[in-house]
Amino acid sequence: MHILLLLSVFQHTLAGLQPLCRDDERSALLQFRQSLTVAQCSFDDYPSAYPKVASWSQEEENSDCCLWDGIKCNKDTGHVIRLDLTSSCLHGSINSSSSLFQLVHLEWLVLSNNHFNFSEIPSEITNLSRLTALSLSNSSFYGQIPAELLELSKLESLDLSFNNFHLKLQNPSLANLADKLANLKVLHLGQVNIASTVPHALANLSSLFFLSLTDCLLQGEFPAEIFQLPKLAFLTLTYNHYLTGKLTQLQFLRLAENQLEGSVPNSIFELRNLQALDLSYNNLSGTVDLNMFLLNLKSLTSLVLSSNKFSLLTGTNVSTNLPNFTVIGFRSCSISEFPYFLHNQDQLVSLDLSSNEIAGQVPQWLLNVSTKSLEYLNFSDNLLSGFGQDLFVLPWSKMNTLDLGFNKLQGPLPVPSSVSIYSYLVSNNQLTGEIPIQICSLNGLHALDLSYNNLSSMLPECLGNFSVELSALKLQAINFYGIIPQTFMNGTNLMMIDFSNNSLQGRVPKSLANCVKLKFLNLGDNQITDVFPSWLGTLPELAVLILKFNNFHGEIEEPQTGFEFPKLRIIDLSHNRFTGNLPSKHFHCWNAMKDIKASKLTYLQVELMPYNVLGFTYYGYADYSLTMSNKCIEIEYPKLSNLITAIILSDNNFVGEIPASIASLKGLRTLNLSNNNLRGYIPLTLSNLTVMESLDLSSNKLTGQIPQQLVELTSLAFFDVSHNHLKGAIPQGTQFSTFTNDWFAGNPGLCGEPLSRKCGNSEASPAEDDLPSESVLAFGWKIVLAGYASGTIIGVVLGHIFCTRKYEWLIKTFRLHPESSGRRRRHTHRM
Ligand SMILES: *[C@@H]1O[C@H](CO)[C@@H](O)[C@H](O)[C@H]1NC(C)=O
Ligand SMILES: *[C@@H]1O[C@H](CO)[C@@H](O)[C@H](O)[C@H]1NC(C)=O
Ligand SMILES: *[C@@H]1O[C@H](CO)[C@@H](O)[C@H](O)[C@H]1NC(C)=O
Ligand SMILES: *[C@@H]1O[C@H](CO)[C@@H](O)[C@H](O)[C@H]1NC(C)=O
Ligand SMILES: *[C@@H]1O[C@H](CO)[C@@H](O)[C@H](O)[C@H]1NC(C)=O
Ligand SMILES: *[C@@H]1O[C@H](CO)[C@@H](O)[C@H](O)[C@H]1NC(C)=O
Ligand SMILES: *[C@@H]1O[C@H](CO)[C@@H](O)[C@H](O)[C@H]1NC(C)=O
Ligand SMILES: *[C@@H]1O[C@H](CO)[C@@H](O)[C@H](O)[C@H]1NC(C)=O
Ligand SMILES: *[C@@H]1O[C@H](CO)[C@@H](O)[C@H](O)[C@H]1NC(C)=O
Ligand SMILES: *[C@@H]1O[C@H](CO)[C@@H](O)[C@H](O)[C@H]1NC(C)=O
Ligand SMILES: *[C@@H]1O[C@H](CO)[C@@H](O)[C@H](O)[C@H]1NC(C)=O
Ligand SMILES: *[C@@H]1O[C@H](CO)[C@@H](O)[C@H](O)[C@H]1NC(C)=O
Repeated sequence: MHILLLLSVFQHTLAGLQPLCRDDERSALLQFRQSLTVAQCSFDDYPSAYPKVASWSQEEENSDCCLWDGIKCNKDTGHVIRLDLTSSCLHGSINSSSSLFQLVHLEWLVLSNNHFNFSEIPSEITNLSRLTALSLSNSSFYGQIPAELLELSKLESLDLSFNNFHLKLQNPSLANLADKLANLKVLHLGQVNIASTVPHALANLSSLFFLSLTDCLLQGEFPAEIFQLPKLAFLTLTYNHYLTGKLTQLQFLRLAENQLEGSVPNSIFELRNLQALDLSYNNLSGTVDLNMFLLNLKSLTSLVLSSNKFSLLTGTNVSTNLPNFTVIGFRSCSISEFPYFLHNQDQLVSLDLSSNEIAGQVPQWLLNVSTKSLEYLNFSDNLLSGFGQDLFVLPWSKMNTLDLGFNKLQGPLPVPSSVSIYSYLVSNNQLTGEIPIQICSLNGLHALDLSYNNLSSMLPECLGNFSVELSALKLQAINFYGIIPQTFMNGTNLMMIDFSNNSLQGRVPKSLANCVKLKFLNLGDNQITDVFPSWLGTLPELAVLILKFNNFHGEIEEPQTGFEFPKLRIIDLSHNRFTGNLPSKHFHCWNAMKDIKASKLTYLQVELMPYNVLGFTYYGYADYSLTMSNKCIEIEYPKLSNLITAIILSDNNFVGEIPASIASLKGLRTLNLSNNNLRGYIPLTLSNLTVMESLDLSSNKLTGQIPQQLVELTSLAFFDVSHNHLKGAIPQGTQFSTFTNDWFAGNPGLCGEPLSRKCGNSEASPAEDDLPSESVLAFGWKIVLAGYASGTIIGVVLGHIFCTRKYEWLIKTFRLHPESSGRRRRHTHRM
């Protein structure tokens, strides 16, 4: 719910001729503008953003500041009374001497959706004593909210939300605020760090119409009197354990993602004016009878009960005078058939019946439901078998999101009729036949996921170019054969292409070089015959390149200028027929693997277009997923974090030595060079790769000793040097004491723990002539006492272990990491 919508409820209308603005106020405005920078507006994220201050100028013909963007003056006095700079791409600090506080006639100040560089709210805000509306939402303000702000006794609307928990309301407290700002109608404190119980004083705010205390770290019980506020119509809460009292005026009730337990409170059915009810993502249990909602809450248009622990009984005998719904969310409600009340619903916009147990064919009547209004349809994760015999064009003409994934759909691929569709997801079914040519007409598509079906078809020629919007194209494992079309156009938005696990032949299409936004390319497990596509190195964003299990061959040539793979983090060329030396010059260029720390943990993902229902925005993501395997272990990454890095060149015919240059890739976490024909020593410089977690050099022809310095790699969880010609003592201590003997097997010259062969005196310490040519003294014989590092966060990991139990250790070091501080409303597309 955008707060401005609510603000516009209040009357601040102005009209008529504007006198010239006052000199002092004009110069205060210009000075304010001068103190900030206008950052690059990112229209992708925020289409309505533009730098309003761009129109402000000192030029004579434009000197009436009352006509500038974002400003309104009082028509009689000429004083600036409104300043609205929402989403203006402003960046910079505000302090107590800001000229903003000279604009003492302001009644309305909106600075939301900018970046004020973690400024504290200056106490001079008290200068703006006429303010009735103040919004500092989502603007990177910081610190304790000053007591002076509570002096603004005329405030009717206060929005301090979404400053990422950086704003605190503790001293003064929420109770103080409620005492002082008695005229509040709108109070939005989402993600303000309040960290207290909910004060009873809030119940004194008799004009309150909108109250959001989402994510405020509140504890304790919610005071029942607040529900009795006569005007309260919109309430969103977290940490609410208590729901009682008369809320009969309440029109919107959103208790999603609280910790509500027990059964659905009966008092809800007394909220006769309720239009929208969202109880999703709580721990409510028992059985819930849909009839109770249908019979009692006649004004309901939005009912979201998703993801609780109750079973929803949807059998109904109510057939007349039903509420007309726009939003139905019954995700994960233990439903086993399509609720019959949907029969007569012709205004639905969003219908989510995913993660239930609905089996069999989609009934014919459902294909008549809301055909002209439905935009979002999610039936994924059920047991559906099809849409009837002949049907393959779906009737809904406004559909923009269709998710039928994870069912048992058979027959031909159903194609949406809506040209405005942007997410079309039908992975993990049993669909057969060709990809219908109609797909090529869906020219607004952002995401297409047909993975894991039995489509057995050539790739349609239109694939690279039918929609300039297309950003995620997932066609894994669907029996595609033939040649990848050469049709990727200039100007495409493609960020993710996954054609893995098919039977594609021919070469990597050169037109992929047109996909300048590409971040993720997976052509693994096909029959592609080509040399290394070094020309992909021009792609400025490419982070993940998977070519494993194909017929790639030949030497990897030195990179040319401009072909450097600047953002590459994961490369997997395993199981091909590459020859020649390892691409050491390439290693030098892969800059993205040189950083050890990312400033913030994020996931590599493609953001899809946000989707709006009744003021709530849902964000879709297509995650990169990936499987990486060692000999005995396969790790599946349903999501990849921005920290992950890997070079996997195993099972080829690389020869020569391991180049020392690999040590410049300081952020490297996985290196697999196994099953090649590498010779020479294990380079000492590998000990420079301090975040390394998995190192596999097995089945080569390496000689010499295992460098003692490798004990410094305290994150190392997997280390396999088996089947080489190594000799001498295995280093002891730190991680090495956790390694299993298989990892050293097949090297007759090795001795010491964990092998049973003890070292003789001559082997106990490395002999001079065994040492690699690099200077040992440069590194010293540092003994690492720091203990074993606990491993780092790589992402969400599912591990499959094939061999000994010892490998469990590896799995445990990868911690599950939920997305931190993400907006709770985010809604993840599972792709
Ligand atoms: C406030 O910021 C301005 C720059 O924007 C700076 O010149 C001034 O010294 C600062 N004043 C205080 C009190 O920090
Ligand atoms: C943000 O604040 C930091 C220090 O507080 C300062 O170094 C930096 O220049 C500021 N950035 C802008 C755009 O004002
Ligand atoms: C506050 O307002 C007064 C005029 O009422 C003005 O003189 C003073 O400079 C203002 N303070 C700030 C910090 O702008
Ligand atoms: C916060 O503002 C930024 C622009 O500064 C915008 O991209 C983002 O979507 C806004 N977030 C919310 C929750 O409105
Ligand atoms: C509400 O206001 C009345 C009168 O101003 C005051 O006596 C009472 O203590 C307030 N209630 C709370 C809970 O603060
Ligand atoms: C829901 O209940 C389960 C146990 O039944 C508990 O583990 C979980 O944390 C609860 N979730 C919330 C959000 O309270
Ligand atoms: C409708 O079903 C409810 C139980 O779900 C029952 O109590 C009620 O009597 C039924 N009404 C009619 C008219 O059959
Ligand atoms: C639902 O809409 C129909 C017509 O579109 C109308 O006749 C009916 O009264 C509406 N129901 C309610 C409960 O508003
Ligand atoms: C769907 O609606 C059409 C026209 O409104 C009607 O002719 C047809 O019988 C309906 N089909 C079903 C299965 O209800
Ligand atoms: C693609 O665009 C680039 C410049 O943006 C241009 O040099 C190139 O010729 C274009 N290629 C095609 C096939 O249009
Ligand atoms: C390895 O690290 C040492 C010390 O940090 C540094 O002097 C050396 O240049 C590094 N070697 C390489 C190949 O990066
Ligand atoms: C559909 O529902 C599933 C399971 O409830 C969810 O994971 C997925 O993200 C939803 N799809 C879309 C496109 O919202």
